[in-house]
Amino acid sequence: MRCVALIGFMGAGKTTVGRALARSLRWNFLDLDDVIEQRERKTVAEIFTSSGEPAFRRMESAALAALLQDRRAGSDLILALGGGAFVQKQNRDELNSAGAITILLEAPVEELRRRCQGEHKVRPLAQQDARVNELFAARRADYALARFTVQTLDKSVEQVTAEIERLLQSADTRTEKQK
Ligand code: S3P
Repeated sequence: MRCVALIGFMGAGKTTVGRALARSLRWNFLDLDDVIEQRERKTVAEIFTSSGEPAFRRMESAALAALLQDRRAGSDLILALGGGAFVQKQNRDELNSAGAITILLEAPVEELRRRCQGEHKVRPLAQQDARVNELFAARRADYALARFTVQTLDKSVEQVTAEIERLLQSADTRTEKQK
């Protein structure tokens, strides 16, 4: 299986772009937060409230490892990761050993905050601007470990998707559309 993992901060557009990219390439799409919610039968916000962030991180790593393991022989996949997933070294290692192509969706923190406010999703770690700024700064070095980076500011979903498709083609990842 080929796997493209979209990474980046909350509000980066990983889910929206991931869906559009999967539609265009005719690959499967999964959002890791959705996978966790199905496995746990709770929303991410409920998990943070009832079990705390460290427990959520353990569930996130377990869900990612299981998913990559299960799908090793499966069909091609676009995977949207939660904003904290790529910060954990063990998750980066899992993605590397599965041969996933990691793509960072980037935007300035003010824009990310604005996008988060415009969405319905409850993000336990995006409730205070100061915390968001702090997390954004703390995560930059880890995000920079992605194989590719795509700027999303002032670009439409279609533009970002087309840019990623070009990147994948130039990386010779055989992204020809499936019949
Ligand atoms: C988180 C991002 C969220 C979700 C959880 C924690 C983070 O996903 O996994 O609330 O630590 O940045 P999105 O990036 O899809 O909002």
